[in-house]
Amino acid sequence: MNNASARASGRPATRLRPRNALVSAAVGLALVATSVVVVSSTASAATTLGASAAERGRYFGAAVAANKLSDSTYVGILNREFNSVTPENEMKLDATEPQQGVFNFTNADRIVNHAIAQGQTVRGHTLAWHSQQPGWMQNLSGTALRSAMLNHVTQVATYYRGKIHSWDVVNEAFADGSSGARRDSNLQRTGNDWIEAAFRAARAADPGAKLCYNDYNTDDWSHAKTQAVYDLVRDFRSRGVPIDCVGLQSHFNPNSPYPSNYRTTLSSFAALGVDVQITELDIEGSGTAQAETYRRVVTDCLAVSRCTGITVWGIRDSDSWRSGGTPLLFDASGNKKPAYNATLEALNGGTTPPPTTPPPTTPPPTTPPPTTPPPTTPPPGGAGCTASVSLNSWNGGFVATVRVTAGSSRINGWAVSIGLPSGSAVTNSWNTQASGTSGNVTFRNVSYNGAVAAGTSTEFGFQGTGAGPSGTPTCTAS
Ligand code: G3I
Repeated sequence: MNNASARASGRPATRLRPRNALVSAAVGLALVATSVVVVSSTASAATTLGASAAERGRYFGAAVAANKLSDSTYVGILNREFNSVTPENEMKLDATEPQQGVFNFTNADRIVNHAIAQGQTVRGHTLAWHSQQPGWMQNLSGTALRSAMLNHVTQVATYYRGKIHSWDVVNEAFADGSSGARRDSNLQRTGNDWIEAAFRAARAADPGAKLCYNDYNTDDWSHAKTQAVYDLVRDFRSRGVPIDCVGLQSHFNPNSPYPSNYRTTLSSFAALGVDVQITELDIEGSGTAQAETYRRVVTDCLAVSRCTGITVWGIRDSDSWRSGGTPLLFDASGNKKPAYNATLEALNGGTTPPPTTPPPTTPPPTTPPPTTPPPTTPPPGGAGCTASVSLNSWNGGFVATVRVTAGSSRINGWAVSIGLPSGSAVTNSWNTQASGTSGNVTFRNVSYNGAVAAGTSTEFGFQGTGAGPSGTPTCTAS
């Protein structure tokens, strides 16, 4: 499959053809859920960050700005050194949904397409955040905001389905200081379950992406905020809320220095059964002191098998949101700094076992048990189709994911009829064409998902206000 057809089919970037074997290994490792890395403990000294990380079964990424993709020095370093990218601002809520229901992926696509062409994986940043919300969202509250947030998560994750290695589903939801409380925000005021609702919607939209909670000042194991995030992850794991990873932003500076217990933080989160990713690393300083702190961070990550990758928050010092602190690995001219050399040395010196990438660490996305009875029985002879609904509901709305399964014969089209309770209405749908919005609604296949081979399935979804459907869906094949 070439890149273009892979993109068109929405298949993961892993299924594209990376440019070299190392990148291929890294990408494959990152996305093939059942693969286990086998690397030699005598791996050669690689000469770039991405290649070295790949030899350790990890990725090394950078935050990328779309408007810098025309800067040849910047792009030269990006293509040479990194095997993962994170759009710095282009996937945020204000960028992707500037008007309610109107989505703009132009700049994010520029980065994603560049990454795919380079065989780099993509971290998605971020689906739900109190900051950088478009004006219309800032003015919403209550169920309207909850619904809009979930629609945003669903639409953006669906658009990029198959192309994102990991999503920062929720960013920075905890308060600073010693309270260990949630941060007050319009999203938080929609109810404490907004975070888990976002994760469930993300899983339903892109079951192949790893789903991360991402925050800053969560590097020091003794901090209340770190403990609060730990409690959230432990709670999600115990209740089967889908979460696969924790992102530690790791912005270090004199007021928020690298903590000596950083490795304890990494290993403690990992022990909950999630991957740990260092997502926005930058370390203010210069010279040897800065270099040695980079070395420690990398060494700590390599010591924890589930610390699966590191992303630096920019390429050159001049690209940084804190450029005055010269916190990155390349100077403004694109030269390697001592911090770069220490980072590469630490990566090459890592001898710990590489991480395995287990299957998604949580149960399937359907949280509450499906409220519908089991799929309808296929007609005699086993031909036709069946449909089953799983629901993610909250007070005032729902997201329904519907699985259509062909019987013993291939089908070429399908129509699923679903009854909605009085007062409920469909507000949008995906991978289907809906007839009607209330009462009995019929969902038909669209051009690309009508043909379903015998015994296999396809999925579509819809979002609505009010209570979700509770009756038995009927599926008619054509
Ligand atoms: O592009 C406009 C430009 O047209 C305009 O002239 C200029 C005037 O202020 O603003 C430019 O947009 C700025 C944008 O960065 C691109 O440079 C925004 O004002 C500015 O707010 C935005 O800052 C970003 C910041 O998030 C916003 O919260 C930083 O680039 C970005 O590095 C930073 O990233 C965050 C992570 O998402 C989450 N963790 C913390 C991290 C650092 O703050």
